[in-house]
Amino acid sequence: MHETGVHERALAAIPGHDAAQAPAHERAKLRLQDVGKRFETAGRAASVAVQDFTLDVAQGEFLVIVGPSGCGKTTVLNMLAGLERPTAGRVTLDGVEIAGPGPARGVMFQDYALFPWQTVRGNIGFGLRHGPAGSALSAKERAARVQSCIDLVGLNGSEDKYPHELSGGMRQRAALARLVANEPEVLLMDEPLAALDAQTRLILQDELLRIWGQDRPAASRRTVVFITHAIDEAVFLADRVAVMTTHPGRLKALIDIPLARPRNDATRASPEFQALTQHIWSLIRDEAYRATVT
Ligand SMILES: Nc1ncnc2c1ncn2[C@@H]1O[C@H](COP(=O)(O)OP(=O)(O)O)[C@@H](O)[C@H]1O
Ligand SMILES: [Mg+2]
Repeated sequence: MHETGVHERALAAIPGHDAAQAPAHERAKLRLQDVGKRFETAGRAASVAVQDFTLDVAQGEFLVIVGPSGCGKTTVLNMLAGLERPTAGRVTLDGVEIAGPGPARGVMFQDYALFPWQTVRGNIGFGLRHGPAGSALSAKERAARVQSCIDLVGLNGSEDKYPHELSGGMRQRAALARLVANEPEVLLMDEPLAALDAQTRLILQDELLRIWGQDRPAASRRTVVFITHAIDEAVFLADRVAVMTTHPGRLKALIDIPLARPRNDATRASPEFQALTQHIWSLIRDEAYRATVT
């Protein structure tokens, strides 16, 4: 278990990555360098949401950010998405500064964000009909892509249902299908499972790893930045867990999660899993406490 900012070592721990082959900075898919974000609010002191935040995310890595509520997780994700601009430092994708949203990055939030007036099929196809991802596809190719995404997330038989006819878990399956239909290189996910009941959540964690391609080499996986406040979820999913402190939001520790993949219920029951979960809890306990009293 390493608490270290030495990204070479973390990269080497990911199958398919050999840090000796190329310097880590050449392999970073996403890079946050000394990033800060201040929010100026009229009539009040500026609030510093994120400070001195430096982190590389490797191609194909599943990076999870944990931290207590209000510590700046969403702000970090919004800067990666290009929805917010940093007030200090640089945020880059493949070495190019992120200046706004782009088709290479797909975003998914906790609330389902499905169009209530569209069916599952309509929701999944929306980005392909109206965005750049589907512009080179014929109508037939788009329909085939939508169907393969429906199959991928296990929504066969529910294609023609509307969001209000679906359970929370099915809605997030639909949101996930819509996300991957656009084939983004990077998935940015802000507590996408937080609104679900505990059982559904475990099932969707498994599904998410399957869809990410945990049995494929890192080079053919998408890069994921996933936010959660649930430590067990972070340990189950992640190659590395980034732990944030609160007020201001800084990176407190980077923890390698060397649990073998594919991961499953046996992983959750293993002593290694329990030890990692305990270790991360010990790192954020004081922060979490502070978040309940300030
Ligand atoms: N648009 C905004 N204007 C002012 N303050 C904000 C804004 N967005 C977030 N903040 C503040 O920044 C801090 C971090 O928020 P956020 O990134 O949403 O935290 P988290 O996602 O970890 O709960 C909080 O103190 C929050 O109040
Ligand atoms: Mg948040």
